Amino acid sequence: MPGVALVGSGSARLPGTLTNDDLSRVVDTTDEWISTRTGIRARHLAAPEESLASLAAQAGRAALEMAQIAPEAVDMILLATSTPDDLFGSAGQVQAELGASRAVAFDLTAACSGFVFALVTAAQYIRTGAFQTVLVIGADVLSRWTDWSDRTTCVLFGDGAGAVVLKASEQDNLLGFQLCSDGSMNGVLRLPYQAQSAPLTEGIAVQQGTFTPITMNGREVYKFAVSRVPEVIEKALFRANLTTADIDWLILHQANQRILDAVAQRLKVPSERVVSNMAQHGNTSAASVPLALDEAVRAGYIKPGDTIATAGFGAGLTWGSAIVKWG
Ligand code: UT7
Repeated sequence: MPGVALVGSGSARLPGTLTNDDLSRVVDTTDEWISTRTGIRARHLAAPEESLASLAAQAGRAALEMAQIAPEAVDMILLATSTPDDLFGSAGQVQAELGASRAVAFDLTAACSGFVFALVTAAQYIRTGAFQTVLVIGADVLSRWTDWSDRTTCVLFGDGAGAVVLKASEQDNLLGFQLCSDGSMNGVLRLPYQAQSAPLTEGIAVQQGTFTPITMNGREVYKFAVSRVPEVIEKALFRANLTTADIDWLILHQANQRILDAVAQRLKVPSERVVSNMAQHGNTSAASVPLALDEAVRAGYIKPGDTIATAGFGAGLTWGSAIVKWG
């Protein structure tokens, strides 16, 4: 069975920055509250003319360049996003922008777990021998779906895009994984469609509406994350025949620094091994894990052969972990 190698990473550059002080002029909040409760100091916003697909393509292009792989060599593009430009999917636009003419491209939605779910999904196509080269992108523009009058959620999110290139290889660097969902807790974090009934013709009505901004029960999501994330990482490590002592880097979905600290403490991973870019980016949903990975790789912290425990968690509810070796 072919194995999976991680041969490149990339992310998009978003020039627009929104600081906590900027936000304190929008809602009743302070830099002190946001930074002590979450660790976030600023976040980036996509420019109005920027599409989700263009951010995703930017991240994908950077990952392909690092991997020294031409777009025409890509067999599949998997775009993890909850905020596509088009409900029919945005991966096709990414394919066109990249010129990845041979690739099949489609979206995958699993909110803030999306990148980890997509990474594992992509690996299965490689392991079966169906594909050799897959571009996995996590990208979200939650600023477009945030209620900017709700201080309990609007201070948390930022926009971003990150990507990795997976390639068939003799050695398998996806060491273990575990993916989970619990739809019975769907109500604690939602971006729901709300429809109104409009009469069409006699006895027949259609439901037409729009998606409404994010709602979240922060305390419930917090409790869920600090209990389930360490558990799912331990399960993925068990499948990899590893223990927490083998983790070189912990890359969690960047939702809250207190969650990162609590999970690391439970797993006994020292804080210098925990990758955090919360302060500069906030919660970028499906982009957060590949963005943190790419920054750590480009800064020279993560080196080929390092063992990385990744974990995503969020709406669905969904959560999952993939243990990978970089390279
Ligand atoms: O990617 C999806 C995953 N999402 C998450 O992982 C989010 C998980 N949850 C959290 O990170 C935290 O629950 C939050 C950061 C969202 C909230 O922190 P908290 O320590 O749980 O605060 P809280 O909701 O218990 O609120 C404490 C107080 C409340 O005031 P009262 O009722 O005690 O008077 C809130 O109204 O803080 C108030 N508050 C704020 N104050 C200033 C809530 N938001 C703000 C704000 N600025 N932005």
